[in-house]
Amino acid sequence: MKKIKHNLKKIAVITGASEGIGAALVNELLQNNYKVIAVSRNIKKLSKLKSFNSKYKSNLEVFSADVTNSFQLLSVAKNIGPPDLLILNAGIYEPVSIENFSVETFIKQSEINYLGVIKSFDAFIKKMLLSRSGTVLIMSSIAGWIGLPKASAYAPTKSALKSFAQSIRYDLAKYNIVVKLCSPGFVNTKAVKVNDFKMPGLMEPNVAAKIILKNINSKKFEITFPWLFSSIMKFLTYLPDNLSYKLIKYVTLNDKEK
Ligand SMILES: NC(=O)c1ccc[n+]([C@@H]2O[C@H](COP(=O)([O-])OP(=O)(O)OC[C@H]3O[C@@H](n4cnc5c(N)ncnc54)[C@H](OP(=O)(O)O)[C@@H]3O)[C@@H](O)[C@H]2O)c1
Repeated sequence: MKKIKHNLKKIAVITGASEGIGAALVNELLQNNYKVIAVSRNIKKLSKLKSFNSKYKSNLEVFSADVTNSFQLLSVAKNIGPPDLLILNAGIYEPVSIENFSVETFIKQSEINYLGVIKSFDAFIKKMLLSRSGTVLIMSSIAGWIGLPKASAYAPTKSALKSFAQSIRYDLAKYNIVVKLCSPGFVNTKAVKVNDFKMPGLMEPNVAAKIILKNINSKKFEITFPWLFSSIMKFLTYLPDNLSYKLIKYVTLNDKEK
């Protein structure tokens, strides 16, 4: 019997889609022939994606949902088909000031960066389990590899995501669902505007999005970039702790402190 050819586009769901790396990924996914479901809180910013990508707007659906709210996420999931690609990208960064230490920022970053990913995963994975296919990409960070100054609230959320991704990939393998971890270095978005130092290897979001999409079907579990900065940071994780500590401390001290 002749096979019926389906001309259906692959569905990509992305959280944290309204700006930064997420918005650049929306653009890249549309250009790569995906139907994109863009999710974040701010509907005005999401609507701008439609005008920005007007050529592809029939392939773009936007939904307002907060990743800390399972009910909102589930109502998005109810309205769409099973994702072929689920990108759990929403996240925030707030540096820690030891002089103004605030538990609130730890709670906030844990709830959005870590539990927000778990809640989003929960909302969308059920349909993927039924379709027994697809890819889940979890947005971590190089900051999740090793402790860094002022990152004591952010970095643990990203380490937790790495651990989550490493574990869940065993459970999803039998459903033919691939898990990938993305660990970028510095990307020039609103999130890093708070940094008051020169960020090594700072990359534009559209370049980051191209690298991510290029590697989405690769066999590698972790996608990391830029090459030089990520290689140096990886090297630091192999060093004895007293050495990596001294190096990071020296490099991140400001001129007055040196
Ligand atoms: N920029 C970097 O250097 C860098 C490096 C490594 C990893 N990352 C990670 O990459 C991801 C994207 O970061 P970015 O730099 O592109 O940040 P960004 O420009 O600030 O964008 C963050 C996105 O997340 C959404 N968001 C924030 N809180 C949310 C919530 N509670 N519910 C739903 N959406 C929420 C925001 O949209 P709304 O305001 O509309 O909700 C926005 O679309 C984050 O997970 C970040 O940790 C960034």
